[in-house]
Amino acid sequence: MQIRDHVFIVTGASSGIGLSTAIALTDRGAKVALLARSGDALENLAQRLPGSLPVTVDMTDFKRVREAIDTVHGHYGRVDGLVNNAGRSYATAVEEIDPAIFDEIFHLNVLGPIVAMQAVIPAMRAQGGGSIVNINSGTAFMTIPQYSVYSSSKRALLGFSLAARAELEKDRIVVSEIYPFITATNFGRNRMGNPAGGGPAASYADGDKPEFVASLILQAIEEGQAQYFANDRLRKMAGVAG
Ligand SMILES: NC(=O)c1ccc[n+]([C@@H]2O[C@H](COP(=O)([O-])OP(=O)(O)OC[C@H]3O[C@@H](n4cnc5c(N)ncnc54)[C@H](OP(=O)(O)O)[C@@H]3O)[C@@H](O)[C@H]2O)c1
Repeated sequence: MQIRDHVFIVTGASSGIGLSTAIALTDRGAKVALLARSGDALENLAQRLPGSLPVTVDMTDFKRVREAIDTVHGHYGRVDGLVNNAGRSYATAVEEIDPAIFDEIFHLNVLGPIVAMQAVIPAMRAQGGGSIVNINSGTAFMTIPQYSVYSSSKRALLGFSLAARAELEKDRIVVSEIYPFITATNFGRNRMGNPAGGGPAASYADGDKPEFVASLILQAIEEGQAQYFANDRLRKMAGVAG
């Protein structure tokens, strides 16, 4: 799908991969609605991005998610793309999983993206098509002690994304997924649970640049393949031919 002059919603635009994606889309001539909880960060970013619209929303509050997407649609009169990027991790042993935090992670990483998709689909269908890009994780294909809740949430997102892709093809709404590897953002710092929680956290600073992941997201919007991987190792783990 074309990027220039089209309207995109980026969730989790206040930081990391979402912020880089909002900048990259604007640089390519798109108008970008910036969604996250940190209103001040979104206002600051909006001042740098011509045509953008900051909308403060907690993606685990589904009524607010629907209202936020209505606000975007009302403001621009159309919605061409949705980048479901907001997400958090949770480090804890299976033995110690807190059901309330489990719930929060699945609301944010799985149900939030589903509700956002549900909210944009009617507008996209009426316009004759659209692009939905869900940000997954290489951990969906891994067994990492302490990260079972996070990796399971991303495995669930994988299932919903592939099903939605098949269901929406007839409406020319293309659903793609991105699989970042370790990326140098605030993700490790924003993790819930055990702060020393093992896994890849120690090496986030040495990870891929968020701009690299943003470039994969723009590639997905333009090409519309099902899955994009940050490296060949992840592609092999997923069992997808290169
Ligand atoms: N960094 C990595 O190594 C890595 C690897 C694989 C996949 N990913 C995925 O990449 C995506 C982006 O992560 P990142 O690395 O850019 O991390 P980040 O820098 O921590 O950014 C996360 C974004 O999500 C937003 N967010 C968190 N909770 C939210 C909520 N309840 N409602 C609305 N927005 C919320 C945050 O904004 P507010 O706090 O302002 O709400 C922030 O903008 C996530 O889905 C993550 O799972 C990251």
